[in-house]
Amino acid sequence: LHKGHGVKGLSETGIKSLPKQYVQPLQERLCMTKTVPQDSIPVIDISNCDDPNVADAICNAAERWGFFQIVNHGVPLEVLDNVKQATHRFFGLPAHEKNKYSKRNSCSNNVRYGTSFSPQAEKALEWKDYLSLFYVSDQEASALWPPACKDGVLEYMRNSETVIKQLLKMLMKRLSVNEIDEPKQHLLMGSRRININYYPICPNPELTVGVGRHSDVSTLTFLLQDDIGGLYVRDLQDDSWIHVPPVKGSIVINVGDALQIMSNGRYKSVEHRVVANGTKNRISVPIFVNPRPHDMIGPSPEVLATGEKAIYKQLLYSDYVKYFFRKAHDGKATVDHAK
Ligand code: SIN
Ligand code: FE2
Repeated sequence: LHKGHGVKGLSETGIKSLPKQYVQPLQERLCMTKTVPQDSIPVIDISNCDDPNVADAICNAAERWGFFQIVNHGVPLEVLDNVKQATHRFFGLPAHEKNKYSKRNSCSNNVRYGTSFSPQAEKALEWKDYLSLFYVSDQEASALWPPACKDGVLEYMRNSETVIKQLLKMLMKRLSVNEIDEPKQHLLMGSRRININYYPICPNPELTVGVGRHSDVSTLTFLLQDDIGGLYVRDLQDDSWIHVPPVKGSIVINVGDALQIMSNGRYKSVEHRVVANGTKNRISVPIFVNPRPHDMIGPSPEVLATGEKAIYKQLLYSDYVKYFFRKAHDGKATVDHAK
């Protein structure tokens, strides 16, 4: 059924009902009855990132929610607009242009256009198309990334670097890591992957998901969403799902599994999901800030120095990531596997 055109192609045929491959089991659809609209994750102004109150707010949010939004982060609005436009430009290409980057056709494993999350492993598909770009160098990106989006994406990545470093510095300080030397920096942010996501209008949004519940395998995720909304986060305290409302100019930050492991469980890599939308197309642009594939990750020595018992074992980061991508989205199962 419209193979190779992604869910965007499917959506644009004007289908009136959801193909059965996309119908999710009841428990995977978002039950709206337990959402708490008056509560949400904090929105933190980080214009003065040397202020200890800012660091406290960031670290508290990473412990309590695993998610927060930042404003006045120094990435110009224009850069955010440009990467959103770049995303629309890429997905607006004809199918044969996008398919040059599909698994079968792409000339590099670092550039991948696809649909759903892990179609071979999934019982039900997710209503999302994506382009995933593993960053190696500016030269490689210039040569291999799609011309329709590469400039906007590279500019966004470049502009995010300072704030990512500032956030990691604040978060590590609470873990008694007072200086981020070169080996630590590699471990925390030695590699990056950037996805551009497209969630087209869905004929029966209540029957499927944009993205199923999962936690990220990153250290931190730096996420730009547009003004449509639809991202929900698990509230650790009462198991409800709360919405992450679009805030103009903000970036959503979440703790990933690698940081949960390094912090020995202090910072929480929290489950999240995206609903499908019946009337609007949505895009998002996450940057996954990761250890390098060949790094060993485990609870930080500084955290264990107090005598705290390690909850997680040491593992090779690339093995961890492979394990994640072999399965369908399944909540927190990946990080539990690291115990
Ligand atoms: C994801 O977590 O995979 C996507 C988040 C989003 O689109 O907002
Ligand atoms: Fe995610």
